[in-house]
Amino acid sequence: MGSVSGGLLAATVSNAGGLGLVGGGYGHVDWLCTELARVRVNAKSAWGVGLITWSIRPEVLDLALSFEPAAVMLSFGDPSRHAKKIKAAGCRLICQVQDVNEARAARDAGADVIVAQGSEAGGHGGLRSTLPLVPAIVDAVGRTPVIAAGGIGDGRGLAAALMLGAQGVLVGTRFYASTEALAPEMAKQHIVASSGTDTARTRAFDVVRGLDWPARYTGRALRNRFMDSWDGREKELLAQIDTQRKHYLDAVQDEDYETAVIWAGEVADLIGSVESAATLVERLSAEAETHLRRGNALLQRDEATDEVVHPIALRR
Ligand SMILES: Cc1cc2nc3c(=O)[nH]c(=O)nc-3n(C[C@H](O)[C@H](O)[C@H](O)COP(=O)(O)O)c2cc1C
Repeated sequence: MGSVSGGLLAATVSNAGGLGLVGGGYGHVDWLCTELARVRVNAKSAWGVGLITWSIRPEVLDLALSFEPAAVMLSFGDPSRHAKKIKAAGCRLICQVQDVNEARAARDAGADVIVAQGSEAGGHGGLRSTLPLVPAIVDAVGRTPVIAAGGIGDGRGLAAALMLGAQGVLVGTRFYASTEALAPEMAKQHIVASSGTDTARTRAFDVVRGLDWPARYTGRALRNRFMDSWDGREKELLAQIDTQRKHYLDAVQDEDYETAVIWAGEVADLIGSVESAATLVERLSAEAETHLRRGNALLQRDEATDEVVHPIALRR
């Protein structure tokens, strides 16, 4: 999560048993230096860094690699231009993709892990939904491990992703509402108070910020007055960009979330409070274990008949 997942959040996730990723976003050098130094000091196990592929400048990738991450995640664009350098640094290459063709291309580029990102996800992404996309990518990429992303916020989602053939999950929005995330408290509380229905995909925030995203990507965010005014009217927005950009940047400064963006996914319904990332990681895996055991119990056989006992009968 660009600029939201700093060194402390990434280190906390890694120390709790996950692989924490610093969200390097568009590669702001000062921010990266601060947060990569922070994760390196605080993480007791492997951590990684994510970059937005189409925006990568060679010096930014060099800078990220100089902190010796265990993994680099590239999203949104052709990873093949950077794969060799990342792997030559002894780093695992994680590629986040939005469709099956991109998944095959990522595998061919040398991805060690492929993240199949569904459109339920917070932030930028594509059009395919997580549920059918994950198994389609699992089938397409052979032995390359696949991780599911988009709409996963608790152990039920993790258990379901494993059933789809994924080896794990990439979680964003749920960690936005964590103590360690680098976001204003008010933004976190907006996510807690929202539901998936309050989110939508748009280009309007990229247009006002002057970010030249390839046309196939939109971003999922909490709906607000700005999105409602400008989504679908991007040409008109461009026509008055100087005034609107100033208005937008003032709103970011003032934490006015009727204008400023809060990237968040459909999983918002499942987020009831801001909690420590360590608690979230532990709960996610403990809950998944419970649900997988419950799934196993659904297949319990009657010893006398060797018939599968009906799940309703099990509950008695
Ligand atoms: C606030 C926020 C910022 C994000 N920034 C990035 C980013 O810079 N690069 C990226 O690859 N993905 C980014 N994502 C998407 C995540 O990598 C991931 O696909 C997504 O959060 C997973 O879905 P979920 O939000 O439902 O957990 C962002 C997501 C959020 C919520």
